[in-house]
Formats: sequence, C-alpha cells, structure tokens
Amino acid sequence: VPDVPVTILPERRTVMVGSGSVVLRAAQSQGVDITATCGGRGRCTSCRVKIVEGVAPPGTINDQLQLGDDLVREGYRLSCQLAVSEPLSLQLAPPLDERAFQILGVDRDAVARARVPMDAGVRKRLVRVELPQEEHHQTSDLEQLALAAALAPADVPLEVIRTLPSTLREAKGEATVVTFQDRPLGVERGDTTAMAFGIAVDVGTTSVVTTLLELASGEVMASVSSLNPQATFGGDLMSRIAFAQWNPSNLRKLQSRVIGLLNQQIDELLERTGVLPQWVYKLTVVGNTCMHHVLLGIDPTYVGLSPYSAVLRHPLVLPARTLHLKVNPEARVCFLPIVAGFVGADAVAAALATRLDESDAMRAVVDIGTNGEVVMGTRERLIACSAPAGPALEGAQIRHGMRGAVGAIDRAWLADGDLRFHVIGDGPAQGICGSGLIDVVAAALDAGLIDWTGLIQLERRDRFPAPLAGRLAERGEERLLVLVPRGEAAGAGEIVLTQDDVRQLQLAKGAIGGGIRMLQHVLGVPDEALQDLMLAGGFGNYLSIPSAVRIGLIPPLAPGRIRYVGNAAALGAQLALVSETERARAERLARSIEHLSLATHPDFQDLFVEAMNFPKA
Ligand code: FES
Repeated sequence: VPDVPVTILPERRTVMVGSGSVVLRAAQSQGVDITATCGGRGRCTSCRVKIVEGVAPPGTINDQLQLGDDLVREGYRLSCQLAVSEPLSLQLAPPLDERAFQILGVDRDAVARARVPMDAGVRKRLVRVELPQEEHHQTSDLEQLALAAALAPADVPLEVIRTLPSTLREAKGEATVVTFQDRPLGVERGDTTAMAFGIAVDVGTTSVVTTLLELASGEVMASVSSLNPQATFGGDLMSRIAFAQWNPSNLRKLQSRVIGLLNQQIDELLERTGVLPQWVYKLTVVGNTCMHHVLLGIDPTYVGLSPYSAVLRHPLVLPARTLHLKVNPEARVCFLPIVAGFVGADAVAAALATRLDESDAMRAVVDIGTNGEVVMGTRERLIACSAPAGPALEGAQIRHGMRGAVGAIDRAWLADGDLRFHVIGDGPAQGICGSGLIDVVAAALDAGLIDWTGLIQLERRDRFPAPLAGRLAERGEERLLVLVPRGEAAGAGEIVLTQDDVRQLQLAKGAIGGGIRMLQHVLGVPDEALQDLMLAGGFGNYLSIPSAVRIGLIPPLAPGRIRYVGNAAALGAQLALVSETERARAERLARSIEHLSLATHPDFQDLFVEAMNFPKA
C-alpha cells in the first residue's frame, strides 16, 4: 500500500499514512501528540482536526454525530475516523470559531440543536421478576413480567412468551427487557443492557453497503460493501424489472439473491466484531424504489411501466424474521420511505444526510450511479428526479470497460502533446473504469480528438502532432482511439476507446447532466445561483471534478462549489438507525420532496438531446 504524506500544523510535521488508513494511529506512532479521549472510537471530539489543504474526504457518521453537519462542511474531521488517499494538510485540534465553539462545548442548547439526538428507539432495562411462589397463585409468568417491566401482556409477541419459562428462572427472575418504541422485542436472561446494536443497509443497483453500529454511542463497529448479486440478471434497473416482470419465480430469485447477500454480510460483520446475532435489534434499509420492492418480494412490474407508480411509499417496519435475516428475529427492520416513481429511499437518505431541507442556500445532491438521482432545492422547496444513466459510468457496456480495481486506467490527462494514463496498482492496464473513461474523453475533447458532438476526428488526423495522430484509428466501419497499443496492455493486448463507447458515455452523462439541468430549469436556478453541488455515491468519490465538468456531466460551477460527500445514502441510513428523530425527519422529507418525472415532462427531450453533446471548449 503506498504511503500518503500528511502535514500536521501548526508544527508543519509530515507523517506518512498508508493509503486508506486513519490519520490518528499513524500520527501517534510517528510521535505526533493527538489526544484520543475515547481511544479512537469516534465517540468524543478530542482528536478533531481541520483540513486546510487537499480534498477533504467525505464525513463519516461519527463526524456527523460528534461534530455536526456545519463543522463537517467546514472541513473538520475526527482524525481517528479520517482515512486518507491523497496528501492533506491538517490543523490539529484547531481553535474553533465562536459559533463552532458553542456547538462543541459551552452552550448546551446549541449542542442539542447541532447534534443528532441519539435515540435509536431501542431500550434495554434490567428488571427483577417475582416468579409465582405458591400453588394458589392467580398469576402467570407473563403477568409477573408485565408487572415488573410495566408492559401490557398483550403486546408481548408469542415468540418471546415461548422463551419466558426458562429465561426467567435461569437467573432467578433477573431479566433484561428489550423494547422498540415501547413495544417489547425480547426478554433476555440476566443483565445484557450493555449490548444493543443495529445495522444500516444501503441496497444499490450495483453494490450493497452494510454497516454495524452500536446504538447507544453511534460507534461504527464494522462495514462491508459487496456487489449486488442481482447484477447477473441485468445491469440496470429496467433489465432487472424486465426479468421479474409477470414472473413470480424470477422475482423470488432476485429477492433471495439480495437477502442471501445481506445474510452473508451480516455474518461477516458479526464475526469480525464478536457481536451476537440476538443483540441486533434494529435495521434501517435504503434503496431505490425497485430495490426496495424486490427486497420485500413486491412485484416491481408497474414501477417500470408508465406512469411508473410505486406499490407503497410509507416507512414500513417489519420484524426481521419476515425477511429471514439472521439477526434477532424480533429486530425491527425499518425501510425508509419512498418519494415516488424511481426516486426512492436512497434519495431521501441522501437528502437527510446532507441536510438539504435545513438550509436557505440553493443546494443539490447528485448520486452518480447506474440509476442516478438528483435532489435540489432549499428548505422552502425540494425537488427530485431519477436519471437512468445505465452502467457505462461503472465501466460496463464499454469495450474495454472494467470496475475500479487493480489494472484499471482510473486517471488520464494531456501532457507533452500526448495522452497519459494512471493504472490502479501501477502494473500493465487491463481496462478502463468509469473515472478513467471520463478523464480520457475530457482529455480527448481538449486535444480535439473528439468534437463536441462526440465524433472521433479521423478525418483531421493530419492536423495532430504525431503521438496523438497515432491514436486515431479505423477498423472496418469503426472509429476508435488507441489508448494502450497492442502488446503493451496486460496479456499483450490493447486498450481502445470506440466510437460506440463514446456514445454510451454520452447517453449516461446526458441522463444525469440533463436531470440536473431539468431541475435547474424547473426551479429557475442559473448556474451562478447553485451554491453547493454535492457528488454522492461510491463512484462520486473517484471521478475528477474538472473532467466531469469538461464532459458536461455536471454544470461548470465556481471552484469550491462542487464537492464529494461520499455515500450519502448509506450515511442517511446510519443516521436513521441511531436516531428515531432522524427517521421521523426522513418521513417528513419524503412527503415534502416533489417528484419530477423526466420521461413525461415536455421540456426534457430537448434538454436531454442538448445534454448528450459535449460543452464546446
Ligand atoms: S479519539 Fe475520540 S473521536 Fe477520535
């Protein structure tokens, strides 16, 4: 793993941090003193730093919980949670400005306002149950429990009652009662009050991210990300809907694939942390409308047909046993609500995490993925659309496309009159991933190898300097750009960008860029008025912002107005997990966001056609 230099102010000491590792540990082991009151678990604020140079990686849930959204936006991070991949300069435990100072310590009301209340809704209480003593009693185990724990006997689920006789007697009546929103979920032998965990799930079209948190503190215990195994039945949503359409057995296949994956991920999380499955009492799930429906085993056929109507939108809460998830069978699985059409709980979660509904400034969050989503607005009005980009941006349906793994060209630029590339792992190239594709096309536009309509400029070959001219080629009917000549790529192959690849990218970026333009159009927001454009989704972290602007994927805003916020949907799911207040806010958000259907809007077709072209230099 390559090391990344991190400069720590005010002393200007540079420490080397392994790429992907957290700053706190590396800095401490190299002799920099950073106070870590909670031991680096993201539960205090003593290790905070401010990023003063370099691109701030997206905030984590612990940054959000401990520092609050405002400070995270200003570049504050907990160094124990701060994983680096690019050089940074950090100010150590920086003096906070007056407002921030209040948030962090003195003004208690401000603390309450700025921070997310930690109220997961799960409560564990130790009770002492007086067991029936003599044979003339007119009571029962359940009634005695209800008396001790102030519960209504009728609220206790049968599954819990079945465990009562032994549970209550094994520890001589000492038991821990678990409730969610005051409804009993379980009774455990002895004192287990310290053990309460939850799992947040983000089911994306392409990948599934699952995170285990301790409910009382919000501490992230472990997180896993895997490819969505439904992809073998279709890369994008429409092909997956087509697979399940009017075919219950195919729908069951899709559902069991994703539930199987969730159970694998849950196993891994529990094994890594030593948390027992029965200690997981709450889950939150976000995903677009199609993923949401399929996970519930609901036929998505009509989601995929005009007028694209969802079967349900409200925040559903189910016991985990209904979905056969391998946690406490009574654990509550809370699906975040859906806006409408394809705009699902993932968009709601992203708006929740980025607090779009709390600011007066015109802001937008764009989830760049197979199924792109855009939410834009202010506290007055929020509007959202879904932009079906297809999988080109993830490297699929591209001749030499691949995911962002070792061997992928992930960066490209022009230097000394030719194209230059970076390959993940620095070995021979095996293909090109989404961020590389965007860079290559941006550089090719700058060099004039591709014109604004997307046409590869074969006819003008003579006008280019030799290295660039040598990249233009024609094979049969096909125009292409040779990126890595035959013999120099992995396996002595070559890597090319075909005319068709360029067209696929134009369709994808036209969908997302057109979606952004459409919301701007409906809200009457020119580029100058858009103050904050946040790029979300796993992919959003890797692409180069200048290249994304160059190809017209996103509008050309002033520098500093475009930034990465990481997987905002997953962060929103985590917030709703540790805070019922946030989950209730998600419900209000879902009801207040207006859904704009691109397919039926009379102005969209023109905007889309325009957005497929590249901006003229
Ligand atoms: S050491 Fe406590 S939050 Fe980092």
